[in-house]
Amino acid sequence: MSEIAAIILAAGKGTRMKSDLVKVMHSVGERPMISWPVQAAKAVGATRIAVVIGHQAERVREFFSADDSISFALQSEQRGTGDAVAAAREALEGFQGNVLILCGDVPLLRQETLMSMLAAHDSKGATITVLTTHLKNPFGYGRIVRREGNRISRIVEEKDATPEERELAEVNSGIFCVNSGFLFEAVSGLKNDNAQEEYYLTDIVKTAAEKRLLCFAFLTEESNEVMGVNDRVQLATAGAILRARINNELMIGGVTMIDPATAYIEAGVEIGPDTVLCPNVHISGRSRLGKGCTVEPGVVIRDCRIGDGVTIKSGSVLSESEVGADATIGPMAHLRPGSNLGAHVKIGNFVETKKIVMGYGSKASHLTYLGDAEIGSDVNIGCGTITCNYDGVRKHKTTIGDKVFVGSDVQFVAPVTIGSNSLIAAGTTVTMDVPPDSLAIARSPQINKEGWVLKKK
Ligand code: UD1
Ligand code: CA
Repeated sequence: MSEIAAIILAAGKGTRMKSDLVKVMHSVGERPMISWPVQAAKAVGATRIAVVIGHQAERVREFFSADDSISFALQSEQRGTGDAVAAAREALEGFQGNVLILCGDVPLLRQETLMSMLAAHDSKGATITVLTTHLKNPFGYGRIVRREGNRISRIVEEKDATPEERELAEVNSGIFCVNSGFLFEAVSGLKNDNAQEEYYLTDIVKTAAEKRLLCFAFLTEESNEVMGVNDRVQLATAGAILRARINNELMIGGVTMIDPATAYIEAGVEIGPDTVLCPNVHISGRSRLGKGCTVEPGVVIRDCRIGDGVTIKSGSVLSESEVGADATIGPMAHLRPGSNLGAHVKIGNFVETKKIVMGYGSKASHLTYLGDAEIGSDVNIGCGTITCNYDGVRKHKTTIGDKVFVGSDVQFVAPVTIGSNSLIAAGTTVTMDVPPDSLAIARSPQINKEGWVLKKK
């Protein structure tokens, strides 16, 4: 196949979203809408990608700032899709081959469909191939006016169409593949003598037809793939379709979802077979879950590695952390970045961890904060334990050896080190290191004043 470059149209504001945020940055399938067509362009092998930006250009630029494969073309005034393509000319300077034109607000297009379209374009030796589909309600879309076979003679916009043309059910998806030499010449010759006084990209079809160049319609049955998102109802619809695609693939791979409609899994997340996802779980980023896990309702996981057989109970939030096999987390636990928990660890309710290592089988079952700590294996952390890691200026480390037993309501004023097999008495504020096999106790002696209450009354 010839070399491919892509232009992604994303300069429009998206007025119907009624939002302060530019349309293409609205999230669909846990990612900004614009990232879907960009990913599709990459997936079909586009070597150069130009994103046409206008409204909130800096926001879009910023989102892709780490991606060198993308260049930007600024269209300062939105004078139509043809003008937008013309704006990308410089960004694709020197490119020769097929230019794929995608819309930033069409997130559902699959790589397979694009591939077939590109293959058809090449095999027919077409100058322009347009992706089209049949819609029951084609209102608002450009209609395809066909000649014989798959050839088309023009595309007419809703606002410019005659009543007969409005009856046509085949619509322009807005997705094109065009020979680069023809494209930039054609868009520079466009006129805006139409109902909207815009430079229509769609008019290049007529230009090609007049020059007797081949112009084909590639009809797809998958009409929801080319659905454009214009308002928040369509945003939600597109989100649900994307979610169903991701979830179906996971279920085919052996994951149980009690209610797939409320399993919010970002594309690229890996989940092992026999893992059960309860309703309303959110798993995103580079997360990977093992086999046979249970994720209870209301759990949020971002960028985590979870081993096999782990149970994550209701309401827990986990980010940038690792959890070993057969561990139990929650309910309502908070694993913050850098929590590295070993196999068979137990983290109970209202426990917060941050930047810690916790060894095999250790437990912190209730109401605890563990931050900047290294905790050995088979350690028991009692209820209400706090690592006092911050002195107001710097963070300090708490080190706890294997098999240490920490009673309830203990504070570790870091930096502090507890030797293995020691016991920290309940209520102790630990300010000094504790040697191995020792008892540490620091609490003021209790006084009982007998009869005091009765006298007071
Ligand atoms: C366009 C097509 C229509 C097609 C429909 C499919 C034209 C003239 N019409 O209509 O045939 O059925 O898409 O969804 O092409 N954009 C810019 N700069 C501009 C104008 C638009 O970057 O000056 C971008 C928008 O941000 C959007 C895309 O191009 O991502 C489509 O523009 P939009 O105004 O939504 O076109 P439609 O009227 O929907
Ligand atoms: Ca549109």
